[in-house]
Amino acid sequence: PIERSLVLLKPDAVRRGLLGEILGRFERKGLVVEALELRTMDAALADQHYADHVEKAFYPPLKQFMTSGPLVALVLSGDEVIEVVRAMIGSTDGRKAAAGTIRGDFALSNRENLVHASDSPESAQRELALWFPKL
Ligand code: CMP
Repeated sequence: PIERSLVLLKPDAVRRGLLGEILGRFERKGLVVEALELRTMDAALADQHYADHVEKAFYPPLKQFMTSGPLVALVLSGDEVIEVVRAMIGSTDGRKAAAGTIRGDFALSNRENLVHASDSPESAQRELALWFPKL
C-alpha cells in the first residue's frame, strides 16, 4: 500500500552538507517528496516529537542536539515507504549500521545519526500531524 513517512534530515546532516546525498538516495529509490521544509525544532516540538523518549537518560542531550540548528523536515510517499525508508537509513547506532545504509555510510554516533524516520504507521500518523498539520 502507498504510505507516507515523516523524515527529518537532522542538524548534523545540514551542518555536514549531506542534504543532497541523503535526499538523492530517496529520490533515486523512487520515493515521492510530498512536502519539504527547513525548520528549527524548538523545545516544545522536541518534547512532542520524542514523547516516547522524554523520560530516558539519553533524551536531554538528544533534545540539545535536535534543537541546535536547522533541520529539513520532509514527507515521503511510496509503496511501503515506512519500512523502505527505515531499511535505507539503517540501525540507530551509526557505528553498527550496515554499510550501504545512510547511517552505515555516513554516521559514527548513536545520537548524531543524520536521519529520523517514522517507525510504524501509527507513529507516521502522529508525526505527520505534528510537523505538517495541513497536509
Ligand atoms: P531517532 O530515529 O530520531 O529516534 C530517537 C533518537 O534518539 C535516535 O534517532 C537517536 O538520535 C537517539 N538515540 C536513540 N538511542 C540513543 C542512545 N542510546 N544514546 C543516544 N541517543 C540515542
